[in-house]
Amino acid sequence: MPAKNCVIITYKVGPENKELIKIVLERIHERGKIPFVDFMELVLYHPEQGYYNSPREKIGPEGDFYTGPDVHPILGQLIARQLHQMWEILGFPSPFHIVEMGAGKGLLCSDILSYCRSHLPRFYEDVLYILADKSPALEERQKALLLEFSTRGKAKWVKPEALFDEGGPFVGCFLSNELIDSFPIHLVQQEAGELREIYVIPEENGFKEILGPPSTPLLSAYLQAYGSPFQEGQRGEINLKALDWIAGVSRVLQQGFVLTIDYGYEAAELYHPARREGTLLCYFQHTTSPNPYQRIGYQDISSHVNFSALMKKGEAVGLRKMGYTEQYKFLAALGLLADLENFEKSSPLHSTQEFLQNKLAMKSLLIPGGMGRVFKVLAQSKGIGEAKLLGFQDPFPPRER
Ligand SMILES: C[S@@+](CC[C@H](N)C(=O)[O-])C[C@H]1O[C@@H](n2cnc3c(N)ncnc32)[C@H](O)[C@@H]1O
Repeated sequence: MPAKNCVIITYKVGPENKELIKIVLERIHERGKIPFVDFMELVLYHPEQGYYNSPREKIGPEGDFYTGPDVHPILGQLIARQLHQMWEILGFPSPFHIVEMGAGKGLLCSDILSYCRSHLPRFYEDVLYILADKSPALEERQKALLLEFSTRGKAKWVKPEALFDEGGPFVGCFLSNELIDSFPIHLVQQEAGELREIYVIPEENGFKEILGPPSTPLLSAYLQAYGSPFQEGQRGEINLKALDWIAGVSRVLQQGFVLTIDYGYEAAELYHPARREGTLLCYFQHTTSPNPYQRIGYQDISSHVNFSALMKKGEAVGLRKMGYTEQYKFLAALGLLADLENFEKSSPLHSTQEFLQNKLAMKSLLIPGGMGRVFKVLAQSKGIGEAKLLGFQDPFPPRER
């Protein structure tokens, strides 16, 4: 029987990348044990073998999970309206930088630029879209999709490491969708009254978790600053990389906004004792599993975002919170309901499969139980006075009696 403080988990389920497993085992062999954060970094982002560098489809119907941009181009179109207002608030700067980190297949960029070109031509003239992705394979994919924009000088690529060191200064908006949830996280557990960290070691049939002292004092400091007390036996994730990220963004953003879309909660809800096992979740061919030691190199691993940490760290590095809301409210405030109505009215093809699929996809962005409510939108700003962003106005004001 395993000791109380270790959980044995095997990986003999489904496909697995043997080369990648060898790389992980070598790393553990060198160090004796590795904190979960290092395991996640290797299995997702190893430059040759990591999940995000495999040639397999990851996002969309043929992949492992859906993201908003894959659901319907209306997401990009609505975000474009928000970006347009930001450009107005900033006094029409040229260029207006849209910096998207972690753009995946590049769909959001394509939808935003296409909409601006056709509906907001004056804004389009001033837009310069910069993409930075950790995955060289996805960067290639983005370059292929966005060729028409890059050849006209509207889209360009920067390596994420270079972005924070040599990039900027930017005037415009840092935009991300489902970036922070994919950052490698530290896993921690409260045990015998102390905070312990989860480490990974090999086991005959796979990998085994053991608890050990925190690998860095930053973990306890994080929970004090941005978390809430854990109950005995409670597990959770600590995303230190998200703090570095927001600090990096603020360093290179001279003036403008940060618009972050992701699933997550504020700290009290994220670390609520009811969420005893934390929020770590793996995705493989549209099924989910809590087990990161299976299907190594074939499944995505993610965790919910701590929005309190982004807000508080943001304040500390000069980014003021402008708005925080659920995605369905943000999209409704930007006109999704009206667009849906217009789409219904204007289409002569009401009963065609294409029409119904389109309508259903748009509606799925609004359903509170689906993508709409778990997903949040956070807007922060730097060097901006009082302003009310369109996406954060109440889309459902109470009726006057
Ligand atoms: C879950 S996917 C989301 C893709 C896309 N934004 C979408 O909504 O479809 C996460 C993306 O973030 C990228 N990524 C992860 N960590 C990153 C980092 N530190 N810097 C830049 N990109 C990163 C991954 O390579 C991938 O493209």
